[in-house]
Amino acid sequence: MLSIGIDFGTSNSSVAVFDPAAPLTAGRPNVKLLELDAHANDKRVMRSLLYIPRDGEIVAGQRALDMYTEQNTGREVKMERHSLGEVTMTFSEMEVVKEAYAMVDVNEPGRLFQSLKRFLSMTSFTKTDVFGTEYSLEELVATLAQQMVRAAEAALGSRISSLTVGRPVRFDDDDEKDRGALARLEEAWGRVGLDQVSFMEEPVAAAHHHASETRLAESTRFLVFDFGGGTLDITVAEAQGDSIHVLATGGVALGGDLLDSRIMKTRIARQFGRGARYEPEGLPVPSHILARLRTWQSIVELNRPDRLEIIRDARRRSDSPRELAALESLVTRNHGLELFRAIERAKIALSEEEQAEVWLQADNIDLAEGITRDEFEAAIGAQVKSSRGCVLDAVRQAGVEPEEITLVITTGGSSLIPVFRNALRESLPRAELTAASTFTSVASGLALAGGTVK
Ligand SMILES: Nc1ncnc2c1ncn2[C@@H]1O[C@H](COP(=O)(O)OP(=O)(O)OP(=O)(O)O)[C@@H](O)[C@H]1O
Ligand SMILES: [Mg+2]
Repeated sequence: MLSIGIDFGTSNSSVAVFDPAAPLTAGRPNVKLLELDAHANDKRVMRSLLYIPRDGEIVAGQRALDMYTEQNTGREVKMERHSLGEVTMTFSEMEVVKEAYAMVDVNEPGRLFQSLKRFLSMTSFTKTDVFGTEYSLEELVATLAQQMVRAAEAALGSRISSLTVGRPVRFDDDDEKDRGALARLEEAWGRVGLDQVSFMEEPVAAAHHHASETRLAESTRFLVFDFGGGTLDITVAEAQGDSIHVLATGGVALGGDLLDSRIMKTRIARQFGRGARYEPEGLPVPSHILARLRTWQSIVELNRPDRLEIIRDARRRSDSPRELAALESLVTRNHGLELFRAIERAKIALSEEEQAEVWLQADNIDLAEGITRDEFEAAIGAQVKSSRGCVLDAVRQAGVEPEEITLVITTGGSSLIPVFRNALRESLPRAELTAASTFTSVASGLALAGGTVK
C-alpha cells in the first residue's frame, strides 16, 4: 500500500508519496513529491492559505492569495452595524432579551485565512462568522486540509484513505495550550473524512528523510533544526543501520511570522504613527492601537468604528499627520497583507544581502524603508537567544554533550537566516551544517516513515 505524508505547515504545505514495495532508485527508497498547486512557482509547495469568497467556490494556495489581492487590496472597508436578531442573556438569574448587533464589513468580497496552524494554541480563537456562516477554527483547518487532500488526490490519480500528518514538537510554551492545540489539530483532521490519520513530529520526519538520502556513518549523532513560519522544532538522533534512533525532541513557538512582527515593530511601525504625539497634551497613540500593527490580521481589526475614530482624531491632532494618514490608509484600504508581504520579502533578501528595502506605495502610504542585516539581527536578538536555548535543551535531554553532535541538518525557510546558522555553529562547535530540501524534507520523511516505521 502507498504511504502518504503531508507536511501541514504554518506558511507552506507539501505532500509526498512512498511505495514500500517499489525497488530502490540508486540505492534510495522511492519517495516522490506530488504537484499540489498548479498556480505556485514550485508546484510541489502549496501556501497554507484559504480564501472563502462571499459568493463562489472556496480556494486554497496561491489562488487564494491572488483572489484576495485582486478583490480586496485598495478597496474601501465599510463597517456597518448589522442586527443579529434577538438574543437571550441571563444576568444573576434574570433573563434579558436584547437585540444583538455585530460590526460587519459590507464591502468585503471574501475572507483570507493565513497561518491557521498558529491559531490552534490560541484559546481565544474559537469561531468566526464568515458571511453568515459560523466556522470554528477546527472547521477552517479541516476545510484547508480537505483542499490539500483533494489536490493531492488529483495529482495521484486515486483516492487517499490514510495519511501521516506532521505536527510540531510544541505548539505553545504553555503545557495546557500545547495539549489543547494538538487536540484541535486531531479534531480538524478527523473531520476530513479519511479512514486513518496518524501524526508524527515534523523534525523526526525530516531526520528520517535525511538518513535515507545520505549514508550516515553508524552511531553518528546529529541534530535536525527545522525552523518554519510558526515553530522551531528540534530532533537529536543517532544513525542506526538504515534507520535512526531518536534521542530527544524539543521545540518552541517561534517562527518566521514572529520575525516579521519584530521588523514591523522596530523598523516600520514608526511610519504608521508609533512615536507620534497628540497635541497639545503630548500623549502617544494608544498602545492597544499600536499593538494591532503586529500582524496584518490584527490590522484588519482596527476598522472597528471606535478604533478608527481614535486614528482619525490622532490624524487631526498629532504632530505626525503624514504617518497617521498612512495608518488610516493601511487600515481602511486593506493594505496590511501587502505591507507584511513587503516586510517578508525584505527579510528573505537579508538572508543573502547586507541590506534590503521595505517598499510600499499606495494611497497615502509612501514607504521605502531601508533595513540592514545588522539592524534585523538587533531586532531579533531575543529570538536568536531563545533558539540557542532550545537547541541546547534538546541536546541536554538527549543525554549528550554539545561536542558530540557532529552534524546539523537544517530545514524550513527560517533556517536560511544567517544569524541563526551562526548561533548553531557556536552552540555545537564540532558540527557540520547541511541544508536539507528546505520546504519538502518533512513531507518526504513523513511518507517514508509512515511506510516503514509504523
Ligand atoms: N530565504 C529565507 N530567509 C529567511 N526566511 C525565509 C526564507 N525563505 C522563507 N523564509 C521564511 O520561512 C517561513 C516559511 O518556512 P516553512 O515553509 O518551512 O514554514 P512552515 O513549514 O510552513 O511552518 P511550520 O513548520 O512552523 O509550521 C516564512 O516565515 C518565510 O518568511
Ligand atoms: Mg515546517
